[in-house]
Amino acid sequence: MTLPSAPRIHPSILSADFANMQAELARIVAADFVHVDVMDNHFVPNLTFGPQMVRRIQDTSPVPLDVHLMIEDPDRWAPGYAELGAASVTFHLEAARDALALAARLRAIGSRAGVAVKPDTPVEPLFEHLDAFDQILVMTVEPGFGGQSFRADQMPKLRRLADEARRRGSDVWLQVDGGISADTIAQAAEAGADTFVAGSAVYGADDVEAAIAGLRHAAALAHRH
Ligand code: DX5
Ligand code: ZN
Repeated sequence: MTLPSAPRIHPSILSADFANMQAELARIVAADFVHVDVMDNHFVPNLTFGPQMVRRIQDTSPVPLDVHLMIEDPDRWAPGYAELGAASVTFHLEAARDALALAARLRAIGSRAGVAVKPDTPVEPLFEHLDAFDQILVMTVEPGFGGQSFRADQMPKLRRLADEARRRGSDVWLQVDGGISADTIAQAAEAGADTFVAGSAVYGADDVEAAIAGLRHAAALAHRH
């Protein structure tokens, strides 16, 4: 697979109509990946779906899958998502027993390996291990629900991570998720994000394709500054 270049826009189907998933996926053909939020009602107080549904999304989606696992015991469950063909699988650092071993296993199966940090989780412990991951997700809301407000207080953390990645010559993707919209995406891009999840800002728009293009344009402009 040729990898899309930055800025990458990943619409989150958490804000899509779950009863019309095939049509909702067809609307985001202009996106780079589709962001698929798996929640288990334990790691977060919300429940979405598991491997059976993700397999059907994988069969149906016009773009590759960026699976975001908000679940306990990812060491046990994450490899199954790589095995069903997801191009990228991200698990939470807070939930993993052995994040490095799990990332290596995801890569061995053939998926990109991502690790996510909640707003209160420091990112510094990852600095020594940037090469172990293909993507680091800095949450810009408390995970669990779409439609929450962007947390600008996460920008210093993102900036420290981006500076460190640059210093080390790392090509790890830096993703943000939560409250990303035409109004907030520039802040995240300026702080160093190159990969942007957007749920309500894409699926809540009348013109989904224009929303994706608008986000991409705003991120590209901000990144140059
Ligand atoms: C929240 C999820 C997000 C969510 C983002 O826990 O991880 O992916 O869909 O939705 P918006 O873009 O509406 O904040
Ligand atoms: Zn997500």
